Amino acid sequence: MRFGPVVAVDRVDYQLRRHEVAGILGSNGAGKTTFFNVLTGYYTPTEGRIFYQGRDITRLSPPQRVALGIARTFQLTSTFDNLSVLDNLVLAFFRSHCRPTTLGLLFKRCAAYRDHEAIIAALHQFDLHPIAARLACHLSLGEKRRMEIAMAVLADPELLLLDEPLAGLAESEIRGVLEVLRRQVGKQTILIVEHKISHVRDFLERLIVMHEGRIIAEGGYEECLNDPQVRKSYWQIDESSDNAG
Ligand SMILES: Nc1ncnc2c1ncn2[C@@H]1O[C@H](COP(=O)(O)OP(=O)(O)OP(=O)(O)O)[C@@H](O)[C@H]1O
Ligand SMILES: [Mg+2]
Repeated sequence: MRFGPVVAVDRVDYQLRRHEVAGILGSNGAGKTTFFNVLTGYYTPTEGRIFYQGRDITRLSPPQRVALGIARTFQLTSTFDNLSVLDNLVLAFFRSHCRPTTLGLLFKRCAAYRDHEAIIAALHQFDLHPIAARLACHLSLGEKRRMEIAMAVLADPELLLLDEPLAGLAESEIRGVLEVLRRQVGKQTILIVEHKISHVRDFLERLIVMHEGRIIAEGGYEECLNDPQVRKSYWQIDESSDNAG
C-alpha cells in the first residue's frame, strides 16, 4: 500500500488461521493500522491481493466485507452517545441480524429486543449489566471500550480486528477489557494491534512484528521479542555496537 513515495505496507505476506488469536507489534508508523485498513476495505492496495476463506476480496467495499464476517471494532460500532448501553447493544444486534431498515424504525423497535437472550448474554459476558441503563456519553473510557467490543461481537463476526483496544485506558480498566477479550478466545479469529503487548501475551498464539511497512519477525511471543532485528528496530537495542550490555 503506497501513499505517494511512502510504502506503508510493503510486501506483507500473511495468513491467519481460523480461530487463532494473533498480535501485531510495531513502532509508530510501522504500517499496522494501514494493514487493517487494507484488510477491512478502507484502502485498496496499490498492489497485491487479499483472500478471505479462499475468496479474493481485494475489491470488496467495507460493508461487503462486514457482511462476510470481517469486523473491526470502530467499523461496526457507531455508538450512540444519547442511548443507553442496553440500547446500543440492541442496535448492534438488530443491525446485523435483521433486514436493513431506516434508523428511525430501528429505534422504535429497539424496546422489543431489550430482553432478547443474545442481548442479556452479552450484558453479562462483557460485565455491562450493572451499567445497562447508563447513557453511553456517561461511560468511562474502559466501559465504552467494553461496550464497543460487545457490539462488535454481537454482530457475530468470524474475524475480529482490534486496533489498540487498550489505548488510553488506566490499569484498572485494562483488566476489565482483557477479561472480556479473553472470553472471546476460541470463538472467532482475532487479530490485535497492541503496543502494550505484554498484557495480551497470555492469549496470543502468534505474533508478527512490523517495521517500516514490512514484517520483520513472525512466530511465538518470546521468539519474536528476542529476534535481533526486532531488538534493534523496535527496542532500539543494537547488539553489534553494545558491548557494555
Ligand atoms: N491516508 C494516508 N495518507 C498518507 N500516508 C499515510 C496514510 N495513512 C498512513 N500513512 C502513512 O503510512 C505509514 C504507516 O502508518 P500507520 O498509521 O499504518 O502506522 P501504525 O503502525 O498504525 O502506527 P501507530 O503505532 O502510530 O498507530 C506512516 O508513514 C503514515 O504516515
Ligand atoms: Mg496505528
